[in-house]
Amino acid sequence: MEDPWKREFEFAVEVARKAGAEIRKAGESEIRVMTKSCTVDLVTKTDERVEKIIIGSLKEEFGEGTHCFIGEESVAKGEACVLTDKPTWIIDPVDGTTNFVHGFPFVAVSIGFAVNKELEFGVVYSCLEDKMYKAQKGKGAFCNDEPIQVSDVQDIKKSIIISEHGVDRSPEKVTKIFSTMQKILCIPVHGLRGSGTAATNMCLVACGAVEAFFEIGIHCWDIAAGAVIVKEAGGLLLDVNGGPFDLMSRRMVSANSDTIAQRIIKEIEIFPVVRDDAL
Ligand code: IPD
Repeated sequence: MEDPWKREFEFAVEVARKAGAEIRKAGESEIRVMTKSCTVDLVTKTDERVEKIIIGSLKEEFGEGTHCFIGEESVAKGEACVLTDKPTWIIDPVDGTTNFVHGFPFVAVSIGFAVNKELEFGVVYSCLEDKMYKAQKGKGAFCNDEPIQVSDVQDIKKSIIISEHGVDRSPEKVTKIFSTMQKILCIPVHGLRGSGTAATNMCLVACGAVEAFFEIGIHCWDIAAGAVIVKEAGGLLLDVNGGPFDLMSRRMVSANSDTIAQRIIKEIEIFPVVRDDAL
């Protein structure tokens, strides 16, 4: 069957590579750090510049009228974050901004593409490692052009699980996050990890380095691309209550299998977050 989004997919890979090169270059000079929602929610001129480069290139290539854009920094500046049926690019120019600021070596460019509210493809470029993860619906997942697959571990006691604590440091939320992590750690699992970028975390699930990644508080731009990559690598996505995954809900479990996902879900202490499309 004819691939209707081939041109968009190939262009997304090209743009992600270009954006990654910009980030690497910017990391060599002094980084000017600003804050968004709170003192630990960091943003830099690079986040803003790289988002402009990505969206500018996409608009030039595909026109403004037919395609929509949801970009982390544009939303931070007040643009709407609503997913419609129109072809929509969902972009995090620098996923792992805190890592970027500190020189912690995991930073990713994340570009997802949805049509009729369904994700069609995802590109995650882990630019400091030079790893290009990509997947198109129904076509498998790849890292630097090699096929990738989730792990076949079904025993939670033989798993590594990733979670993150995000930027909301209200004591009630932090208590729930760490209580969940404690319960999972004490199952016991082999280990708990976190790379500091949700997009990279999902790629680690996709390539079988870990069995699952879950988080409450992530945004659609952190996970849109990774969601396609995990699914195409044979994994699955669920809501933290075991229901269907909802891209705008800011809650997600991505796992190699339903067995691992359900075991984690049993331990997750859910706390409320405002949906992306209600921000
Ligand atoms: C953050 C990272 C982090 C996750 C946060 C995200 P950003 O994205 O993905 O791993 O825990 O929830 O907001 O701000 O670096 O683009």
